[in-house]
Amino acid sequence: MTKRIQRWFTMLVTAFMLTFSLSALASDETGQNTGIERLGETVVQKEIIGFAGADYWRMVKDGQEGYTTSRSPEHGVLISVPGQTWFILKEKWMSPLGALAIFGSLAMVALAYFVIGPLKLSKPKTGRKIKRWSRLDRALHWSMAFTFLTLAFSGLTLVYGKHFIKPVVPTELWSWIIYAAKQYHNYIGPIFAVLLTVVLLKWWRKSTFTMVDVKWFMKMGGMVGKYKGTHPSAGFSNGGEKAIFWLLIFFGAFITVSGFVLDFPLFGQTRRDMELSNLVHMLSALILICGFIFHIYIGLFGMEAALDGMITGEVDETWAKEHHDLWYEEVKDLPENQPGYNAKAEAELKAEAAKQSA
Ligand code: HEM
Repeated sequence: MTKRIQRWFTMLVTAFMLTFSLSALASDETGQNTGIERLGETVVQKEIIGFAGADYWRMVKDGQEGYTTSRSPEHGVLISVPGQTWFILKEKWMSPLGALAIFGSLAMVALAYFVIGPLKLSKPKTGRKIKRWSRLDRALHWSMAFTFLTLAFSGLTLVYGKHFIKPVVPTELWSWIIYAAKQYHNYIGPIFAVLLTVVLLKWWRKSTFTMVDVKWFMKMGGMVGKYKGTHPSAGFSNGGEKAIFWLLIFFGAFITVSGFVLDFPLFGQTRRDMELSNLVHMLSALILICGFIFHIYIGLFGMEAALDGMITGEVDETWAKEHHDLWYEEVKDLPENQPGYNAKAEAELKAEAAKQSA
């Protein structure tokens, strides 16, 4: 019996000790945690009170300048308040109005095609070819067209992609699209500047306005209303082509200068410089995109046989007479425009003559 009582007593004491030691251990751990948590809280509170309290963030938000080791302009300003004006101008005004202008231009050319219809030749083609654009001219035109159009698409992706592409493609693909658009735009942009300069040097002379162009405009290019089909006189380029040329040069120059400011932020540009350049760049590009929607329409669908010249270098005699009568009169008797003219044989003859006279 005593043995039994002894065993019961031992078990009870062991259970009691076990319970006591476990609860002591638990209370010790929680005690430590609370201690660490309290210490962390105090540090964070101290940090908040010392460096980053509500007043601190209010000052940052108000554009207050702080201290930084960087010596670049405005690097001490974490949040630039005037940047909000730029953001509103770009996102709330220029971006929606630009989209409206582009869709409006597309709608207008569609309307022109279906309501006015393409300008057809009034007489059949004669088959006699007149030299219009050299190989160099055509290479220049198509390089410019390719560069401009791909820059336009990548630029429009940068501005509108988040509204039109992002919601309908997987995130992974979207990140690739926007990355590619940005890189393409940044690296190909300077090529546009080079081509623009060559276009200006090569074509400025034939694009200067004369009284002939004023009359061309007064008759609305013979394209609409009571003048439709009248073919007002024109030299090598008509008033409309000259206008599109100077539009390209003028806004292209703005695009180029602002593009360089944005592409190379290494010359002490401030945020204001970047914001202004961004707005000038976007506005000029949108104006050119809308203008060239009309140019491309005329070239592709709006005028019969206009594209031939920019593809083969030659136009039909009938087209030349109807759309550029003054130029036709100037060039019709040149040897290169006579039927059966062989450019290669002519060049060989000239070379031979030069050799003999030397
Ligand atoms: C698919 C796109 C395009 C087509 C089908 C096209 C078509 C044409 C055609 C047919 C001409 C010759 C007109 C003539 O012989 O009188 C021309 C001229 C011209 N194109 Fe384009 N073009 C396109 C895009 C562009 C682009 C994107 C630019 C520039 C950003 C451009 C700039 C010019 C210039 C500056 C001229 C010379 C105008 C002149 O002074 O006579 N073209 N284009």
